[in-house]
Amino acid sequence: MGRLPELVVNGYAEQWVGRGFPWVYPKEVVRGGGRPGEQVSIVDRRGRVLGRGLADRGFLAARVFRHADAPLDALWLAATLERARALRRLVVDEATDGFRLVNAENDGLPGIRVDRWADWAVVTLDSDAMVPLLDDLAQWLVDEEGVSGVALCYRPDPRDERTVPPGRLLHGEPPEAPVVVRERGLRFAVDVLDGPDVGLYADMRQVRALLEPYWAGARVLNLFAYTAAFSVAAAAHGAAHTHSVDLAAPVLERARANFALNELPTDEHLFEAEDTFKALDRLRRRGVRFDRAIVDPPSFSRGKATFSAKKDWPRLVAATARVLDDGGLLVVASNQGELSPKVFDGAISDGLRKAGVAGQLLWAAGQGPDFPASTVFPEGRYLKVRVLRVASPAR
Ligand SMILES: C[S@@+](CC[C@H](N)C(=O)[O-])C[C@H]1O[C@@H](n2cnc3c(N)ncnc32)[C@H](O)[C@@H]1O
Repeated sequence: MGRLPELVVNGYAEQWVGRGFPWVYPKEVVRGGGRPGEQVSIVDRRGRVLGRGLADRGFLAARVFRHADAPLDALWLAATLERARALRRLVVDEATDGFRLVNAENDGLPGIRVDRWADWAVVTLDSDAMVPLLDDLAQWLVDEEGVSGVALCYRPDPRDERTVPPGRLLHGEPPEAPVVVRERGLRFAVDVLDGPDVGLYADMRQVRALLEPYWAGARVLNLFAYTAAFSVAAAAHGAAHTHSVDLAAPVLERARANFALNELPTDEHLFEAEDTFKALDRLRRRGVRFDRAIVDPPSFSRGKATFSAKKDWPRLVAATARVLDDGGLLVVASNQGELSPKVFDGAISDGLRKAGVAGQLLWAAGQGPDFPASTVFPEGRYLKVRVLRVASPAR
């Protein structure tokens, strides 16, 4: 192999890459670089090698995969994947086969996520600059994990303006029916060819686990329910009634299918295709009340903010608190990495004040341990979950 193209970075990037940060921004490049997907040697202005990466264009100039002067080859990739797998063997319970195997930057593979869905693996790339690693990655998944199929999809960073390449199959035959995965013994159907949102958000598994003791006999409102994983978990753990609201009717069909998969009769479980605010308004006017509410809105729709922390969060929290009975539990989640915990907590506090109720924070949680966050990559801690008890103040 000839000499690698060099990407010379400024003093700022030198410090960050030196600490293990995996990104080089275009404004940090002094000179050099490569075509997207090309291996580059990342060097400081004195020519000292800081690491090895894959060049890109768009919002990143390169992703750094090794913080050493060493190749991005199959041996290195296998060692990195084995480390990722060892963590999952430690933290994923036996009754779960839908989990994240590789969490991108946080597992030493920037821009690459791998989710296991039963005997399938879904690889999600942030850009096609990582395509050169795909053959070795898919081979490892087949040989070492024994998967029967590997699907590829893309999820570009919202800061990246480029169009998303279509997903494709990297190994195996398209499944004839939805793949059924287990989460803590419950069953959920996922569409592995429709990644990255296949039908179950595994990053919330620990939150569902945390809430298991609190569903018995409860009336549960699940807002932005998607395929209703929270409602299924609630019903399976004894909830008296669940009400799942989502704007998209097709996801509610999948929600019903998830109830059926778990042999949960749907007589006491409602599915409403409606806008959350409209549903909340009607419930309040009719005097319908709940003991538990889950609020987990989408953060972005392809680069455009859907919810504004300042405006929409307090309104959403207030409207939800108004249909909770005294002493009810409110679960609020945001997967918007850019929203700081401080601003999020402030918005919750504003919302509860607006509704005239007092709040007690029971837990502050985040993504589960199969979604680790590297300590040198603050962007890795994106999920914020708050479990609060709301109460009318004593008069
Ligand atoms: C992040 S997902 C929720 C994930 C879900 N809580 C879970 O854990 O599986 C967001 C969902 O919000 C729905 N949605 C978006 N805007 C909505 C609105 N205004 N009212 C109701 N649902 C909405 C989308 O259809 C999507 O299914």
